[in-house]
Amino acid sequence: MLKTISFICNDKEINTDIHPATTVLDFLRKTLFLTGTKEGCREGDCGACTVIVGELSGNELKYKTVNSCLLPIGSVNGKHVVSIEGLNVKGLSPVQLAMVEEGGTQCGFCTPGFIISLSAYFLNNKKYNADEAIESLDGNICRCTGHTAIKRAAVRSVEYFNSQKGKTLVSAGLLPSFFSDIPERLKTLITKIHTNGDGEIINKYQIGGGTDLFVQKWEDIYKSDVNFINSNELDEKIKISGNECMINASATVTDIMNSEIMNIHFPDIKKYFSLFGSLPIRNRATLGGNIVNASPIADMTNFFLALNSKLYIIDGNSMLSMKKSPSAREVLLKDFYLGYKTLDKKPEEIISQLSFRIPSANSYFSFEKVSRRTYLDIASVNSSMSIETENDIITDIHVSAGGVAPIPLYLSKTGNFLLNKNIENKIISEAVRIALSEISPITDARGSVLYKKTLLRQLIFAHFLKLFPLIVKYEELV
Ligand SMILES: Cc1cc2nc3c(=O)[nH]c(=O)nc-3n(C[C@H](O)[C@H](O)[C@H](O)COP(=O)(O)OP(=O)(O)OC[C@H]3O[C@@H](n4cnc5c(N)ncnc54)[C@H](O)[C@@H]3O)c2cc1C
Ligand code: FES
Ligand code: FES
Repeated sequence: MLKTISFICNDKEINTDIHPATTVLDFLRKTLFLTGTKEGCREGDCGACTVIVGELSGNELKYKTVNSCLLPIGSVNGKHVVSIEGLNVKGLSPVQLAMVEEGGTQCGFCTPGFIISLSAYFLNNKKYNADEAIESLDGNICRCTGHTAIKRAAVRSVEYFNSQKGKTLVSAGLLPSFFSDIPERLKTLITKIHTNGDGEIINKYQIGGGTDLFVQKWEDIYKSDVNFINSNELDEKIKISGNECMINASATVTDIMNSEIMNIHFPDIKKYFSLFGSLPIRNRATLGGNIVNASPIADMTNFFLALNSKLYIIDGNSMLSMKKSPSAREVLLKDFYLGYKTLDKKPEEIISQLSFRIPSANSYFSFEKVSRRTYLDIASVNSSMSIETENDIITDIHVSAGGVAPIPLYLSKTGNFLLNKNIENKIISEAVRIALSEISPITDARGSVLYKKTLLRQLIFAHFLKLFPLIVKYEELV
């Protein structure tokens, strides 16, 4: 467990022995008395608590927005945390001014979160456009102003910064001048940091991004021993090794959807993964956490099940330093789930990596998710399919289905049936019949048994209609 946590908050270096699972939200408000960061839902849904976290990657300082209500302070060790107070400049910044002049604030409770997210957009990008600036606000909710005025403020801010070409964000009035020194200060700080990597590290809670743990168990975590999985790791998280793609379990949704390798092999991955939570959640939610949380509707798990991925599982005792290269046990993701929240994993074991075979030129991939709201919602049912064909004959296929069983489901019978078959409407209809025999949905808040069965049928149809529009005809499927 971390003993001393050192980071820079706005322009001040902080060294603290507070429990590492204390949320940054509580630390800001209750210890540093920086009360500009607001507490709304405490579940990652509203964005009132959004802060910016900067991390050195080599010489480059990369900033991301995160929900401080789900952010354990131990995971900002060696990083730069920017709360709304850290954006104070002389007078109002251009973003603050735009919010005021466009009428984007009334009670003001959500406003710090919006200003943080919009400022982070300018901090993270070199070219600005209105659509992207508005998208960067996808984790912030306003209950009284209405989002139209706030969107206008985003557009106005983009116009302003586009007119300031050649200026830095400090000289353009967005950031206070101390930002320029942060990279050097972080380098010095990191050399000072001590983590407790020795002795017994199998603590009660192993924290990835914390986006599940801090919603479900935060009061208990706060009283327990914890460790952080790869929280300061700067290694390449996604790489090619032979004909396999290897992804570190600590890779976040943002890492995966922005990875060049993933975009080459899955051109629609940004579209698919933008359906996962909000930007601040995607910036923290890790692959390992998504898999081990074992939610039947977990989106990344669903995606990687359909790539017949393999997990590399190591003894947690070797974990704090991945550089020790502990020998890994290999388990196919489809065999990892033994029952509801029951895994082929001992408590002390940790997932270090996931791998899948790089898709061939004849491969196609589709991910579909239906939820009550298109964005910012968990799935009612999700499904993925990877398929390889030669002359319209299926030479390899893997199909997954979420929300229709106690575990994230790999549809083995459906895949076995489709293998070596021609892509034909009647074959697909028969495959759907087999898929429906493999599932065991229950009626719950996300829909009835019949609704979920109907959804899965439609999603499998959708995979084929999308990937083979010249062969598959909807009228002949139903
Ligand atoms: C507002 C909100 C929206 C969300 N939207 C979605 C969504 O659209 N789709 C979706 O699928 N999920 C969603 N989630 C759920 C959550 O973000 C994901 O499940 C996420 O991937 C969990 O990862 P984490 O790193 O935050 O896990 P954590 O909370 O850190 O950990 C979860 C569990 O996994 C364990 N763990 C973490 N990493 C490892 C590892 N490497 N090896 C072994 N055990 C490990 C932890 O010990 C813990 O038991 C949402 C959550 C919130 C709060
Ligand atoms: S308080 Fe609502 S997202 Fe953190
Ligand atoms: S201004 Fe009141 S919640 Fe947004």
